[in-house]
Amino acid sequence: MNNSSPVGFFDSGIGGVSILQAFKHIMPDESTVYIADTPNCPYGNKRAEEIISLSVANTRELTEKYGCKMIVVACNTATAAAIDYLRAKYSPLPFIGLEPAVKPAVHETRSGVVGVLATAGTFSGRLYRETKAKFGGDTTIIATVADEFVTLAEKIYRGALEEDSPEVIEAVKNRLAPLLAAGADRIVLGCTHFPHLKKAMEVICGDKAKIIDPSFAVARQARRVLRSLSLQAPAGALATHVFIDRAKV
Ligand code: DGL
Repeated sequence: MNNSSPVGFFDSGIGGVSILQAFKHIMPDESTVYIADTPNCPYGNKRAEEIISLSVANTRELTEKYGCKMIVVACNTATAAAIDYLRAKYSPLPFIGLEPAVKPAVHETRSGVVGVLATAGTFSGRLYRETKAKFGGDTTIIATVADEFVTLAEKIYRGALEEDSPEVIEAVKNRLAPLLAAGADRIVLGCTHFPHLKKAMEVICGDKAKIIDPSFAVARQARRVLRSLSLQAPAGALATHVFIDRAKV
């Protein structure tokens, strides 16, 4: 493992591509390896023990086969269940995790009502509870499980469904309408699959609410950690990108 080694990413499927794209955009010299654990998608309704063992399998492949110098757990659900375990097991390997962006939403809201969309697994994790307690203040935070968005995002990404098809618009409307009716003016995407439905969400929200997509904030955090550990690739390095879609193996 050295500075030219790749940064590893994994998610239950293609959700984390939203993070991968942002990272590649701001760190063009970095090589990457992405694992879409599609046969095991979704993670959102699995038990924590199972998500831990899937996350270990993904991390093992990224480290042992590809020699990754840092792992981005590009999945809120896997972060909630497994990040403490992974950090302890693979120390000192750096891990970047994801949690719903409650803090900026609470900071920005004018109505005092924020909607958070995520999986059941993310909402039941310690990270979400702690973040909400720490940064929620007196903002009303409405947690909405939207597991069906994961399947829709997978289909959109694979070209089986159009992003603006009636099925997608209807599903998005069903989840967002109650949040908008309750006065939410910020909607947090607490699952990396959900930015793939962002256009439909923006249509439904109009000017009533802004979507908070954390992809670039996470990419910047990954950049900060690489730099602080002096692990960044040399400027002008020839970056290579490996995408492992287990569905197609
Ligand atoms: N993309 C994932 C997340 O950020 C998980 C989706 C799932 O597999 O349920 O939570």
